[in-house]
Amino acid sequence: MDLKERYNAAPKRYDAGDKIFRRCGRSGVLLPKISLGFWKNFGDAAPYERSREIARYAFDHGVVHFDLANNYGPPYGTAEETFGRLMDDDFRPYRDELFISTKAGYDMWPGPYGNWGSRKYLISSLDQSLRRMRLDYVDLFYSHRFDPNTPLEETLQALVDVVRQGKALYVGISRWPLEALAFAEKYLRERDVPMLIYQDRVNLLDRAPIEEGKLDFCRAHGIGFISFSPLAQGLLTDRYLNGISEGSRMALNASLKQSALTDELLEKLRELNRQAAERGQTLAESALAWVLEQPGVTSALVGVSGVEQLAVNLKVMARVS
Ligand SMILES: NC(=O)c1ccc[n+]([C@@H]2O[C@H](COP(=O)([O-])OP(=O)(O)OC[C@H]3O[C@@H](n4cnc5c(N)ncnc54)[C@H](OP(=O)(O)O)[C@@H]3O)[C@@H](O)[C@H]2O)c1
Repeated sequence: MDLKERYNAAPKRYDAGDKIFRRCGRSGVLLPKISLGFWKNFGDAAPYERSREIARYAFDHGVVHFDLANNYGPPYGTAEETFGRLMDDDFRPYRDELFISTKAGYDMWPGPYGNWGSRKYLISSLDQSLRRMRLDYVDLFYSHRFDPNTPLEETLQALVDVVRQGKALYVGISRWPLEALAFAEKYLRERDVPMLIYQDRVNLLDRAPIEEGKLDFCRAHGIGFISFSPLAQGLLTDRYLNGISEGSRMALNASLKQSALTDELLEKLRELNRQAAERGQTLAESALAWVLEQPGVTSALVGVSGVEQLAVNLKVMARVS
């Protein structure tokens, strides 16, 4: 890719209209059925040209929602820095067409104020994120995880206040237990900052948020639901059907451990792959379609290490209503 070339977004990027977007709960926001996550493949460890190509391809196909967090990289913070560079290089003219989220909740900096759910951490972390991302505001700010030791009111009031301060337009939470999710829904609604969206992992191998009633709760209360790792970090693709391929996420043995690929799991993946093939689909396509067909799911939040993968994943948007 010629990095000196000015980016002009594809004029036809919204032509597929309804095939791309779904309403996020009971809100004014539409989100693409497939959203792009920056957890891996956008930090300093990834080549900038490749990250840039992925982001451009996504936006050119109507994928206007990019999901980040303070600790995405690796190293921590560098996915947001890459995003900031992308803003300056390519996306500044399109800021109002983009829906950008970030989060705080996991360990980010040393000491007692760089982790969990205090007001002190969440607000200073968002300020740092905005600087790294070269943005005045984010569209969506999340509490990244439930903190059993901080009063929920403190965490939630920090979310209310970042909206009042104009640093975020909407708020959400990720990976909170059902009872706490219900508390958050009420707290935020009563302060006129309704929860836009809840983020958790739902995929063919992990249905816990469905079984625990979280998806139903969101649906009943007009909260959108976005599923992260809908491909189980690549397990639900052809990546591992014949072992651990070179350059794959599992080859790094970090967030996706090689020990996870047991004979039993491999057999299950091969069976799912056979069933997908009978329907004329790849395993990745059928896994994403399954997530998007769960009532109440707004968007499937994928990660990709190349545009070819993204091209496959985006095809699913036209196949589910
Ligand atoms: N809220 C939270 O706590 C939380 C936690 C985790 C993630 N997230 C969010 O969710 C996003 C997505 O998570 P994820 O990256 O785990 O999602 P994922 O889509 O389940 O897995 C992405 C990986 O799957 C492989 N892949 C994707 N499409 C493929 C295709 N068509 N064919 C073959 N392989 C394919 C690639 O692996 P290779 O790299 O091996 O090519 C890619 O890196 C993150 O970026 C982040 O924004 C949130």
